[in-house]
Amino acid sequence: MYTVPLMNRLACLACGKAYPLDIHDPFCPVHGWPLLVRPSSRRRRIKDSADSIYERYADFLPWRRFDPALSLGEGGTPLLALRRLAVELGLPGLLAKNEMVNPTGSFKDRGTVVAVQKAVELGVHCVGTISTGNMAGSTAAYAAKAGLKSLIFVKEDTSREKIASAAVYGASVIKVRGDYAALFRRSFEIGRERRIYFMNSVDPFRIEGYKTGGYEIFEALGPDAFDGRQRVRIFVPVSAGGHLIGLMRAFLDLKENGVLRSLPRFVGVQAAGCAPVARAFARGAASVKRFPRPRTTAHAISNPFPPGGDLTLRLLRECGGLMTSVSERAILRAQSLLAVREGLFCDPASAVALAAAQVLGPGSGTDVLILTGSGLKTVEDIDPRALNIRECGLEEI
Ligand SMILES: Cc1ncc(COP(=O)(O)O)c(C=O)c1O
Ligand SMILES: [Zn+2]
Repeated sequence: MYTVPLMNRLACLACGKAYPLDIHDPFCPVHGWPLLVRPSSRRRRIKDSADSIYERYADFLPWRRFDPALSLGEGGTPLLALRRLAVELGLPGLLAKNEMVNPTGSFKDRGTVVAVQKAVELGVHCVGTISTGNMAGSTAAYAAKAGLKSLIFVKEDTSREKIASAAVYGASVIKVRGDYAALFRRSFEIGRERRIYFMNSVDPFRIEGYKTGGYEIFEALGPDAFDGRQRVRIFVPVSAGGHLIGLMRAFLDLKENGVLRSLPRFVGVQAAGCAPVARAFARGAASVKRFPRPRTTAHAISNPFPPGGDLTLRLLRECGGLMTSVSERAILRAQSLLAVREGLFCDPASAVALAAAQVLGPGSGTDVLILTGSGLKTVEDIDPRALNIRECGLEEI
């Protein structure tokens, strides 16, 4: 048992009860929902300091002191205007939050740095995660930076690039056959037995770190964009739900503290080939059912029974957001459009955001696509027929 500072009490949004932090079981014992860090009750604000996002957003983050030595320079990513696609697709005000430029190529770094900070504070020597790829590389890199060991379980069909991009940091990587949801639960048991902090997809501190992306979007667009006259839409690819939960919490925090008037409209997006949360949303259900036979090239968001599914649905409804799903064809087309027209090569899992914006059509204000991860780790998923590659001898050119 670790000593638990008061600020680390967690809460379940289903029952409203507070629970002490147990990194080996961060779920409500009654509802099974992921527990979240309880916000402090004092008034919070974004600070003027320009030194780091951790100083600016310190009021909203779960630590007394952030150790910059554990950072790899995550966050502070650009919000890019997609001018060519905006015209071509009839989506005025189309922007992309480029999370691909994070140190290990995905938004996961924002969450990992906070969870690793916690691991160091708790005196844990080994951290772990289960991942389809991006979280593996991120956890392994930040563990290396902090001088911790790391143990990574990946799905057996994870690409060679993604496995290598975690193992390269010195992590022990184990490819596991079998049910992903069962592996998720098993990892926490192994964590308790071996004193390993499994900072999985809906870890409460990971989710806290994801909030920084939301604050950056708020600051880049400015308070006028959230004054209620127009509605900013934020398109977020969803797998376990941790990222979207963090982003929604970021804006809910701002609203509760009187910093903004009107919430953005969150659009959670899944691939039609694995869309358990979108299905439950369409049915008006409060809980997610396991998605049978998942099949999509968007492997990074192919989670048939996401642990944060019910909590995602609950927060989406609270924020007036929605969930949708997009076809394989639309995903690959969107991935290609982002690369060819805008120079942004993203993972198919990120391209779902543009595909969803195309399906929904223009809104009443700015549209932000979160490009969650780089395409460089999924090069083998590109359809070679879409590429203009030919071969000839020197004399034939
Ligand atoms: C590129 C990419 N996008 C989106 C997600 C989904 O994030 P979450 O599992 O927090 O919903 C992942 C998660 O692995 C990812 O790797
Ligand atoms: Zn509960």
